[in-house]
Amino acid sequence: MSKTPEKQPGDPKTTGHSWDGIEEFDNPMPRWWLWTFYATIFWGVIYTIMYPAWPLVQSATAGVLGWSSRELVQKEMVSFEEANAPWNAKLVETPLDDIAKDAELQQYAVNAGGAVFRTWCAQCHGSGAQGAKGFPNLLDDAWLWGGTLDDIVTTVSYGIRNEESDDARYSEMPAFGEILESEEITQVVQYVMSLTKAQTDDAAAQAGKVVYEDNCAACHGEDGKGDIAQGAPNLTDAIWLYGGDEKTLTETVTYSRFGVMPPWDTRLTEAQIRAVSAYVHQLGGGQ
Ligand code: HEC
Ligand code: HEC
Repeated sequence: MSKTPEKQPGDPKTTGHSWDGIEEFDNPMPRWWLWTFYATIFWGVIYTIMYPAWPLVQSATAGVLGWSSRELVQKEMVSFEEANAPWNAKLVETPLDDIAKDAELQQYAVNAGGAVFRTWCAQCHGSGAQGAKGFPNLLDDAWLWGGTLDDIVTTVSYGIRNEESDDARYSEMPAFGEILESEEITQVVQYVMSLTKAQTDDAAAQAGKVVYEDNCAACHGEDGKGDIAQGAPNLTDAIWLYGGDEKTLTETVTYSRFGVMPPWDTRLTEAQIRAVSAYVHQLGGGQ
């Protein structure tokens, strides 16, 4: 057992606790620190009275100031809508072909349309409108259903091959697996590949030309350049919606495809549809 050393005058105050001779100083927190501490507690209590704070079963205490982040957003949205209202009205009134002639209106349409695109279209067409397998790239000047602003507004308004809109664009490529012999499919695939100089078997491609003329030309055209009235893609431009390799082409011809796009006239306003169409139109260089 060690012994506690004798107290000397001027030694710091201790609490009187001692463990094996180690004593505990009685140093109070500095005044300024304590007061700051009390002030923060006071501030905290006042804050939770003024602002929404304490969780209840369904919501939380609202706070006497009545501040609400949701209301703030709502107010901001209303003020944006009010600011945009004259532009939206103008966008709807202006004939489609004249929108681009009004530089300011076009600028508004493209900006607003870009926002609509990122919200509603990007999940299928990609955030940069670059597309993906089965979802067309909207940046190039190759159009399935036509690339004039008018065409695009129609496509966007009613969609493609959907069951929701009676005005949806519609066409259906037959599944040739049920119509042609597998050899004929091999041949016509070689012929389609030859349109972009990608065939691997010239004799088959030659034979495939006949199969093509009998079965495919009605939609894709004698020259293979497609038909926008039927949404039949151009097969000569090496821009593929589904893929231009032998395996994918065989799949497309055997089972056919049925690309579906939803209609937007039920979800977006006329102004939003025009805006997003103007946005897409200028991305593709605009026909
Ligand atoms: C659920 C997926 C999906 C969404 C969302 C979608 N699209 Fe599409 N879109 C498609 C598909 C699939 C096609 C191609 C259909 C076909 O094979 O003909 C298409 C085709 C198009 C075309 C025709 C392209 C051409 O070459 O003629 C345009 C224009 C277009 N979409 C614009 C839009 C816009 C603008 C939006 C947003 C408002 C949008 N799409 C939202 C799936 C979608
Ligand atoms: C009734 C019209 C029609 C006929 C006949 C038709 N097609 Fe199509 N074809 C289409 C349409 C429409 C599409 C687009 C389908 C889609 O996007 O869902 C298409 C798509 C394709 C594609 C996909 C192109 C790509 O970019 O990925 C290929 C390849 C193709 N057709 C080849 C053929 C061949 C070969 C034949 C004849 C054996 C044929 N088609 C007959 C209408 C037709």
